[in-house]
Amino acid sequence: MKRVATNAEATRAVAMEFVSGLEVGKVVALVGDLGAGKTEFVKGLAAGLGSTAVVTSPTFTLIHEYRGGRLPLYHMDFYRLSSEDELDEIGFDEYLSRPGICAVEWANRFPERIPGAAIWVTLSIAENNERLICW
Ligand SMILES: Nc1ncnc2c1ncn2[C@@H]1O[C@H](COP(=O)(O)OP(=O)(O)O)[C@@H](O)[C@H]1O
Ligand SMILES: [Mg+2]
Repeated sequence: MKRVATNAEATRAVAMEFVSGLEVGKVVALVGDLGAGKTEFVKGLAAGLGSTAVVTSPTFTLIHEYRGGRLPLYHMDFYRLSSEDELDEIGFDEYLSRPGICAVEWANRFPERIPGAAIWVTLSIAENNERLICW
């Protein structure tokens, strides 16, 4: 699928539509440069699930959990991870098997840790702040 989002709100709206079709256990692997809109997309995932939780980049805590929606959403970010060992320390694989949805920013940093059934979503910056969102 391919979508063009002309602003941040539109990126969130694409994510809201996207998440409506996801079943429990799905992993969403997000790829895109800094500022491409990966975190905005996760905001839309949370909103689409029906959570009113505030979504922020999981920089130091590495994993955020958003509840109150149809399914819990686990938000990870591989950006600051220097080695795969840190994924074991935070129990990454255990989150993947929880009954929720996992969204992983910078998933391409450790692609071998992403399950084969994951949906890869790529965000790229086009002209006029537009983002191209493909999955
Ligand atoms: N079409 C768009 N989609 C998403 N974000 C956009 C768009 N246009 C401008 N922006 C801005 O770009 C930034 C994207 O930031 P963020 O989602 O944190 O990116 P990432 O997590 O990929 O580093 C935000 O400041 C947002 O307001
Ligand atoms: Mg981000």
